[in-house]
Amino acid sequence: MLTKEQNDLITRTGPGTPGGDLLRRYWQPIALSSELPPGGAPLPIDLLGEELVLFRDERGRVGLLDRHCCHRGTDLSYGRLEDGGLRCLYHGWLYDVTGKCLEQPAEPKHSTFKDKVCQTAYPVLERAGAFFAYFGPGAAPEFPAYDFFMAAPEYLHQSKVSVGCNYMQANEGNYDPAHVGFLHRTEGENRAANRALHRVGVSDAEAAHVDSGEPPRLEVEATAFGLRVYQIRSGGPGREYLRVTIFGMPNFAVISGPQGGDGHIGIWHVPIDDGSHWRWHFAVRRDAPLDHDGRYATSHTNSPEYEAEYTLRRKSTNRYLQDRTDMQATFTGMGHNFNAHDAFATESQGAIQDRTRENTAASDTAVVAARRMMLAAVDDVRAGKEPLGVVRDPTQNRFVDLISFDVLADAALDRRDVVRQVIERCAVVS
Ligand code: FES
Ligand SMILES: [Fe+2]
Repeated sequence: MLTKEQNDLITRTGPGTPGGDLLRRYWQPIALSSELPPGGAPLPIDLLGEELVLFRDERGRVGLLDRHCCHRGTDLSYGRLEDGGLRCLYHGWLYDVTGKCLEQPAEPKHSTFKDKVCQTAYPVLERAGAFFAYFGPGAAPEFPAYDFFMAAPEYLHQSKVSVGCNYMQANEGNYDPAHVGFLHRTEGENRAANRALHRVGVSDAEAAHVDSGEPPRLEVEATAFGLRVYQIRSGGPGREYLRVTIFGMPNFAVISGPQGGDGHIGIWHVPIDDGSHWRWHFAVRRDAPLDHDGRYATSHTNSPEYEAEYTLRRKSTNRYLQDRTDMQATFTGMGHNFNAHDAFATESQGAIQDRTRENTAASDTAVVAARRMMLAAVDDVRAGKEPLGVVRDPTQNRFVDLISFDVLADAALDRRDVVRQVIERCAVVS
């Protein structure tokens, strides 16, 4: 349970809010590369309570500007791409990708007023098939060298979908392993194919020793990027089944998902406003290029569960198309798509979950630890310190231990040694 003030600190992200100041210290994904191809129209973007426009100038340089012209506020996403920038349709003011005002053609010939104004602009990078922006003060930090950002395109798949709730409660689902055995469960004859155990890196024969119905124990370990969350079940005599997931500061998680082989998915939850956000998937395979099935399973497109423009077909307005006769086959009666289940569970908590009224339990160990970490980071930013996970020194920009996996391990081994062994086995993709 949190106080109202604490809840506001981690859920309110608009300009000038402490939680918003925290999120703005990290590079955030803002659009897919495919949404702004060379020569494409300027793209309106709503993010962190701000109205923005992303565009490529005639030379291919990318800019992210406040969407409202600093003259008298007209929407620049309708503007003309010409003469080295983006030109407002109202009176022709022209801005380059840095927000510098290049021309004010309606002003007197010798006016220097254009040198006295500028359009708010944010640094942008194109990486991993997406655009990322830095919204914070001063120089941008290093772009984090997570493997799912650095891998070659054939090893990587990126997608996004909109979700109608606060970013924080949706991310909490990623490091809440107990929900997987309920919300995502298949029933009846399908039980044998229960996906409650993802079993990435664990063979069918080995998994036969693991009781997927046993409530897992949870342990958390603080790291340089956030939390490593251990989900622990007995795995037969002298063995433990460990599933390791990651909470990454401040708004992502890493899970070993259905991408196949040796890999995982980085999942970002980026606020559009405080009651909605984008859920991003960056799926990577290290041992081999992602095949069709791996891309399909991690994607937010190509499935009847999704509509155009990155939205799920199941939503609150159609009661998530719940079919109660289908509850013989699935726990929810809402089909087999995990993202649809997660959207139902987290959207129905309310646009912003009222955490003053909850009763957190043992299965919420990681959720509670992550909130503490977020609140401490909010305090750090307020105190003028760099928050956890922001990298300024290029030599420190390495994250080999930011990894999610499943493993059957010797129960006598220290868990940190298990993590080390898995890292040594992992292929390198960057
Ligand atoms: S409002 Fe944009 S140029 Fe006047
Ligand atoms: Fe889930």
